[in-house]
Amino acid sequence: MTDEFDDDLDFSPAIERAAATSETARRTRVAASKRAATRPTGTAGSKAPKARGRWRRRLASSVILGAALVGSGLGYGLFSSASSADETASSADDIEAGRILFTTSCIACHGANLEGVKNRGPSLIGIGSAATYFQVSTGRMPAMRQEAQIPEKDPKFTDEESRQLAAYVQSNGGGNELPEGNLRDGDVAEGGELFRLNCASCHNFAGKGAPLSAGAYAPAINATDEQIYAVMLSGAQNMPTFSDNQLTPAQKRSIVSYIQSLKASNDPGGAAIGRAGPVPEGLVIFIVGIGGLMGVILWIGAKS
Ligand code: HEC
Ligand code: HEC
Repeated sequence: MTDEFDDDLDFSPAIERAAATSETARRTRVAASKRAATRPTGTAGSKAPKARGRWRRRLASSVILGAALVGSGLGYGLFSSASSADETASSADDIEAGRILFTTSCIACHGANLEGVKNRGPSLIGIGSAATYFQVSTGRMPAMRQEAQIPEKDPKFTDEESRQLAAYVQSNGGGNELPEGNLRDGDVAEGGELFRLNCASCHNFAGKGAPLSAGAYAPAINATDEQIYAVMLSGAQNMPTFSDNQLTPAQKRSIVSYIQSLKASNDPGGAAIGRAGPVPEGLVIFIVGIGGLMGVILWIGAKS
């Protein structure tokens, strides 16, 4: 009797054990001990129920697994939507938290009432949350020292703290507000056209940046959707402001979509050469290719 044999050695396939959940494992143990208890009287013909039981166990564990997956998915969905909902509302708590951060990190240059400090920093009254979020989340603020241009650096504050500071500045005189929601639902083709018209003169056609006069430079654009939108609203140092009359909110979203699509598309043909187009690419091939050929010709000539 194979069943008797299995039970004597307490043998069962290892794979099945490993796959069983703790619940089914417990049931297996209970079943095994019951069988062991009844063994002396000789239980015959248990083969069919055993095979059926195995299938039932497999079915049960896959049902449990499925339920666990669905449950955790639902739980995550509920949890994440709940937490993003209270992130967007800038409450009195956020403003208060922002005020405390401002007091420790900003008043030396911008004044206790945001009125500005002579030769240190401008007034921030009415500057708005867009400018503040841009400056703080890109690490430009708090500034370190006077330079031709205050550079981007590793942000000192987390994204949440940047929003709290933005809420605090916004609560003092209003100003351009940081936009919410999806900013990347614009028309990429329209965005490309607007970018070439309004931005490429400083940032280059591929958003790779370029030097400006007097030690200033337009940086390579490496920013989040919100930062790009915010800096269009607020301007920054040598970058002009693009009000909603100049570029409508829909046009701004198209520009954001275009810039982010540039970032996403890599260069399958190798080096991009600044994405300047086919003429310079041809020139590079010409100079490198003809230059190489000339080298070979000269080498052959020198040998003979
Ligand atoms: C060392 C001095 C210094 C510190 C500290 C500093 N700032 Fe500034 N901040 C400046 C200067 C100078 C400018 C003007 C830069 C320019 O436009 O050329 C400026 C500009 C800004 C602007 C842009 C104003 C505009 O007109 O668009 C914002 C917003 C800002 N700061 C916020 C902050 C916040 C928030 C903090 C604290 C986390 C902070 N700054 C800390 C010196 C400072
Ligand atoms: C007159 C030149 C000029 C024009 C035109 C201009 N920018 Fe800028 N831009 C700058 C300068 C200068 C900075 C750096 C500002 C700073 O560091 O405070 C900048 C910074 C930025 C940044 C931040 C980059 C980063 O990674 O932190 C973004 C994004 C940006 N510009 C987008 C645009 C867009 C979009 C347009 C067109 C709608 C545009 N700019 C037009 C000069 C310009």
